Amino acid sequence: MKLKYLSHSAFQITTEEGLRILIDPFLDDNPNSPVKSDDVFADFIILTHAHGDHLGDAKKIARAYNSQIISVFDLGVILDKLGFNTHKMHIGGSHNFPFGKVKFTIAHHGSSTDEMQYAGEPAGVLLFIENKIIYHTGDTGLFLDMKLIGELNKIDYMLLPIGDNFTMGIEDAVHAVEFVNPGVAIPMHYNTYHIISADPNEFKNKIEEIGKQCRVMDFGEEITIN
Ligand code: NI
Ligand code: MN
Repeated sequence: MKLKYLSHSAFQITTEEGLRILIDPFLDDNPNSPVKSDDVFADFIILTHAHGDHLGDAKKIARAYNSQIISVFDLGVILDKLGFNTHKMHIGGSHNFPFGKVKFTIAHHGSSTDEMQYAGEPAGVLLFIENKIIYHTGDTGLFLDMKLIGELNKIDYMLLPIGDNFTMGIEDAVHAVEFVNPGVAIPMHYNTYHIISADPNEFKNKIEEIGKQCRVMDFGEEITIN
């Protein structure tokens, strides 16, 4: 599969079979995004929570391509009422999709919409695709159960926030990587706004100091995972 970083918490996965999955596609109002919503398509859109910088352009893209939106139940109900094609799950639950398995995990954060409508719990997501496991933590603070997630799943790639203020900062993100013990850590949710300024290379150095691998992806960079 291919994994492309669209900046902030937005990633695009393209499977060997050509299925396209977008995670938290915040593009049009994202100053760092190399692409806009008109430039992308999606068979599936996975949302970790309803905040504007994660729900992003999901509605626009899903409307254009009839993409199925995968989210926690409460956010899914909001999207159902707007006529979207949804698949509703909840934390701890997993489901097999044509591209692989998705399992939602806890995340310590909020999840109301921009209109302050309740949208359920925020989540992280485990993706089991082509014999690899990717853990996108969503927006979250550090939590000890990450140890359990890492013990029960051999995480190949961990995508985690380092921007502080709304989520973990670098120091806690390093602890999170120690807890989960992934093959490679990829930082996200930084430098989109001044308030979440962080140096991803400082994070990378600290990860390497604990003997782990870190890949700082450029905004728009795509890597192949096999
Ligand atoms: Ni958020
Ligand atoms: Mn966020």
